[in-house]
Amino acid sequence: MNDERYTLITGAGQGLGKAFALECAKRHFNLLLLALPGEKLESFALSLRKNYVIKTDYLEIDLTEPQAAGRIYHWVHDHHYVLNRIINNAGIGSVGSFTSHDPAFYDKQLDLNIKAVVLLIHYFIEELAAEPDARILNISSLASFFAMPYKAVYASSKGFIYYFSRALRMEYLNTPLRISVACPGPIITNRQVIKRIKDQGRISRIMVLSPEKTARLCLRGMLRGKAFIIPGFPNKFLYWIEKLLPQFIKIKFVASRLRNNPPS
Ligand SMILES: NC(=O)c1ccc[n+]([C@@H]2O[C@H](COP(=O)([O-])OP(=O)(O)OC[C@H]3O[C@@H](n4cnc5c(N)ncnc54)[C@H](OP(=O)(O)O)[C@@H]3O)[C@@H](O)[C@H]2O)c1
Repeated sequence: MNDERYTLITGAGQGLGKAFALECAKRHFNLLLLALPGEKLESFALSLRKNYVIKTDYLEIDLTEPQAAGRIYHWVHDHHYVLNRIINNAGIGSVGSFTSHDPAFYDKQLDLNIKAVVLLIHYFIEELAAEPDARILNISSLASFFAMPYKAVYASSKGFIYYFSRALRMEYLNTPLRISVACPGPIITNRQVIKRIKDQGRISRIMVLSPEKTARLCLRGMLRGKAFIIPGFPNKFLYWIEKLLPQFIKIKFVASRLRNNPPS
């Protein structure tokens, strides 16, 4: 049954974000979908509305624009939508030596992976904290647990999201709001990611999950109010192995896997 509350999902036009939207629709959550212009969000929002009898709306926005978070907040309020869940999914990955990407790329990656998440949460968090059963799910990565040569900026940005989420969760534990962070391993989403997974060899291929399964497991963890979620057994296994190995071995191992990957 619709409860007139909405779940807001960023990066909902494709990949994991789209899978989150479908999984939420199956649970009859009303949805506010955000993506870059040109992602056919209108027809996707309409199809969810018709097929799952939910309310949907969408906003095409570049989250790296200055004032993007404020624009989203005002759009939500101007339409009198009330949020009870946010899924911060949008993010961009990269692989390659540090200088194989230019400063403009890192500027965008850091704006999207870090700044957009912090500012969006800042705008909505007090309202969410006043809602019963409110949830925030931030999408980090298994990469957040590693110092990753050749993925140095991406992995560190996801490390920020991991620690930020864990810390903020504690600040809000005396409210009904539960903040979760998901740390998925490789997910078969877009063509670029599929190529990266292939280049990274057998271990990546063993750990790979579909966007649908990842979204389902992450959503289940979020609804249970878990602090952090690692979807899939091989990824959980790697997480525990990571705890046992000394840093210098892990860094050398990661470097040997990624050193020869073409930058993307
Ligand atoms: N794929 C993996 O192997 C993997 C593993 C671990 C964690 N993750 C994380 O999972 C999340 C989703 O990744 P993905 O693989 O599904 O997608 P992706 O294609 O790698 O990342 C693009 C996502 O970010 C959105 N996006 C990109 N630039 C944007 C901008 N300037 N403004 C607004 N939205 C923007 C895209 O939205 P549009 O729909 O508008 O294009 C799309 O949903 C990311 O945070 C990623 O870091 C992915």
